[in-house]
Amino acid sequence: MSLDIVILAAGQGTRMRSALPKVLHPVAGKPMLGHVIDTARSLQPQSIQVVIGHGAEMVREQLAADDINFVIQAEQLGTGHAVAQSLPYLTADTVLILYGDVPLIETATLERLLALVGEQQLGLLTVELADPTGYGRIVRDAQDEVQAIVEHKDASEAQRQIREGNTGILALPGKHLAGWLGRLSNSNAQGEYYLTDVIAMAVADNLRVATERATNEIEVQGVNDRIQLAQLEDHYRQRMARRLMAQGVTLRDPKRFDVRGEVSVGRDVTIDVNVVLEGRVVIEDDVQIGPNCVIKDSVLRKGAIVKASSHLDGAELGEGADCGPFARLRPGSRLGAKAHVGNFVELKNAVMGEGAKAGHLSYLGDAEIGARSNIGAGTITCNYDGANKFRTVMGEDVFIGSNSALVAPVSLGDRATTGAGSVVTQDVPADTLAVGRARQRNIEGWKRPTKK
Ligand code: UD1
Ligand code: CA
Repeated sequence: MSLDIVILAAGQGTRMRSALPKVLHPVAGKPMLGHVIDTARSLQPQSIQVVIGHGAEMVREQLAADDINFVIQAEQLGTGHAVAQSLPYLTADTVLILYGDVPLIETATLERLLALVGEQQLGLLTVELADPTGYGRIVRDAQDEVQAIVEHKDASEAQRQIREGNTGILALPGKHLAGWLGRLSNSNAQGEYYLTDVIAMAVADNLRVATERATNEIEVQGVNDRIQLAQLEDHYRQRMARRLMAQGVTLRDPKRFDVRGEVSVGRDVTIDVNVVLEGRVVIEDDVQIGPNCVIKDSVLRKGAIVKASSHLDGAELGEGADCGPFARLRPGSRLGAKAHVGNFVELKNAVMGEGAKAGHLSYLGDAEIGARSNIGAGTITCNYDGANKFRTVMGEDVFIGSNSALVAPVSLGDRATTGAGSVVTQDVPADTLAVGRARQRNIEGWKRPTKK
C-alpha cells in the first residue's frame, strides 16, 4: 500500500495572539508542525504535503526539507479546500490527513488507522469526549455504521448530544478523493468547504467508514491557545518521564523534569529535580545528574556525575568524569575518563585528558590539556586577541599555578609547572618551571601614610 500524507497547517491561530504562526509554537522545544512531520516520516509515506497559508514563508523557512512539499492555500476556505490544494501531488493508494496543530498524535495510533483503509473503506479516528462542544459529531445508523459527520455549528439539538467527536484525522482511498472534493459545497453554517462532508459522500458511493478510537483525548488535542499549548507540554513531559523510568532511570520527581528532544539512557541513572534535557542527549549506565542542570546535545559516559546547577551544551563527559556544581561546559568540551571540573569553571572547545583537573574558577577555551594535568584556581587561557582565536596546548602531568594567565598561542610540555600568578607568553619546555611575574620585594621599616 502506498501512502501520501497531507498535513493541514494554513490556519491563522488568532487565539494564540502571536506574531509567530501557530504551528511554529514549540512543544518540548520543537515546533508543533515539526512533531507532526516527524510522526508522518515514521510511517514512510511516498510523499508529505504540508498545506500552508498564514505565515507561509516563516513556516517554510523553518521546516523546509527534501522530503516535504509545501502547498500554498492562499485563502482559508475550509479543511476540504485545503486538502484540495494538494490534489495535484497525490498519487498513492491511500491518503492520510493530519494537522499541524495536533502535535502529539502517535505513530502506533496512525498505524492502527491505516490498517483499516482499503479500496472500499475509509479509516476515521474518533474520540469519546466529556464535552464535545465545537467538535464535528459522528453520526451512526441503527447498525452502528458511520453515516456522516455533522459540524457542531450545523448540528441539531439531538446530534449535539452525541459524544463521539471527529478528531479530523482520516485515511482514505486516494482514487476517490478528487471526485469527492470536487463535489463539496460551502452552503453550511460557516460558509466553508468541509473535509468532513466527504464521509457522507463515501457512504453514498457504497464505501464503508471504519473507525478507530484515540487512546486518550490529549493525543488528538488540537492547540488553539496558549493554555492548550501548556497542557500538551505537560503531557509530553509526563510521557517522556514515564518512558525513561521504564528504561531504568530514577527521577527524583517526574513532575520536575523536562525533556525537549531525544534522550537515550542506560540503567541506574539518577536524575534530581529541575533538570532540563535538550536536543540529543546520551546518558550511559550509572550516571548521576544533580538538581537544576541544563544538558543539551551532550554525551555522559558510564558513571559520569553532573553536580548541581551545571550547564552543558555540546559536551562530553568520559567514564567516571565529573563536573560542577556550577560548571559551564560549552560546545567542544570533552572530559576524559575520571577528569574533574569544579565550581565556576567554564570550558569551550577544550579537551581534558584522563584524570585532568580544573577545580575552581577558570576559563579554559580552545585548549588541550593532557592526562593528569592540574589547573590551579583562577587560571585563564587568553585565547582571543580581539580579532583571532588561538590555542593553548598542554602535555601530561602539567601543573598550572593558581591565577596563571596563559596567553595563546602557547604550549607547555609534559610535567611543566607555572608559578602562581604567572603571565605565560612563551612556550614552556617539558620538566621546566615558568615564573612570569615580578619578584616580591620586602621594604623594611616602610611607614604607612598618616592623615594630615
Ligand atoms: C475540524 C473538523 C471537526 C473536528 C475538529 C477537530 C472540519 C470541517 N471540521 O473543525 O469535525 O471535530 O477539526 O479539531 O474539518 N485549516 C487549513 N485551511 C483551512 C481551514 C483549516 O489549513 O482553510 C487547518 C487549520 O489550520 C487547522 C485545521 O485545518 O489546523 C482544522 O481547522 P479548523 O478550522 O480549526 O477546524 P475545526 O473547526 O476545529
Ligand atoms: Ca480546530
